[in-house]
Amino acid sequence: PRVTVVGAGRVGSTLAQRIAEKNLADVVLLDIVEGMPQGLALDLLEARGLELHNRQISGTNNYADTANSAIVVITAGFPRKPGMSRDDLLKINAKIVVEAAKNAIAHSPNAIFIVVTNPLDVMTYLTWQATNLPRNQVMGMAGVLDSARFETFIALELGVLPADVKAMVLGSHGDLMVPLARYATVNGIPITELLDAETIERLVQRTRNGGAEIVELMHTGGAFFAPASATSLMVESILLNQSRLLPVAAYLQGEYGLNDLVIGVPCRLGCGGIESILELTLSDEERAALQTSAESVRSNIERAQE
Ligand code: NAI
Repeated sequence: PRVTVVGAGRVGSTLAQRIAEKNLADVVLLDIVEGMPQGLALDLLEARGLELHNRQISGTNNYADTANSAIVVITAGFPRKPGMSRDDLLKINAKIVVEAAKNAIAHSPNAIFIVVTNPLDVMTYLTWQATNLPRNQVMGMAGVLDSARFETFIALELGVLPADVKAMVLGSHGDLMVPLARYATVNGIPITELLDAETIERLVQRTRNGGAEIVELMHTGGAFFAPASATSLMVESILLNQSRLLPVAAYLQGEYGLNDLVIGVPCRLGCGGIESILELTLSDEERAALQTSAESVRSNIERAQE
């Protein structure tokens, strides 16, 4: 199979590396900057013999070269600068993402789209609109990253193996995300048995601020290693038809009492894209947090379309 990555910046190029080196698919890297995706692709090709895989990697500025992709990942756009919110990026990135989605679908009419560009939930909604695809074929990456951050902070706090920690973060990608601490476990043991409420709240806050923490440290742009890993996990679950249950930004039609918007919910990802959406039982507090999160996504969808 072929995966196109639109936007050969830090997230896009790292994702291309992960997909090829995990031997998941051939990769086409596309960017507006001439020469840059071609140079990155050549660099990655020269590592093939060393990394022991035989995947094709090509770089282009032309959507015709992306034809017949099974998956299109959109990372094109601008990242946040220190002090900038994800929503400041709204108008600039909306134009870039809609154009990328329309160009990509013209050459890969059956593709599954994974959106990474921020503000994530709104960009995913715009991609769903621009491609006119069934809702199961368009999704956004946010929850897998936010959950990995939450799991990391829990593992650091307890001094346990990160892979033994399982947690889910729902809602929009941003300050209003909804980390489900109640459902987080270390190999099945709820963290509420292992940590006091105050500590859990501190870890939840650090998770909410997880992206900004890295932006503040780095000054130039945001995180890209973990975002690329999170996206490649989604690519893998789709291409290998693994049916993993992951938090994914999905278009809702009544689930969780929400309609006509994109927000992070637990989804089974397989070869058809989103195979099903799981409706978890939420506490009153969690439901209210998801509602607040949804309201902010809705107002941004409206702003993007003004
Ligand atoms: P970057 O600046 O390194 O890369 C963006 C690339 O997009 C650049 O190479 C640029 O030339 C390209 N680009 C701009 N306009 C384009 C167009 N019209 N067509 C094709 N390519 C175009 O940025 P980075 O760090 O890779 O981040 C990319 C996006 O992903 C940002 O919006 C960032 O906020 C978002 N992001 C989202 C995460 C999530 O959890 N959903 C996590 C990390 C980043």
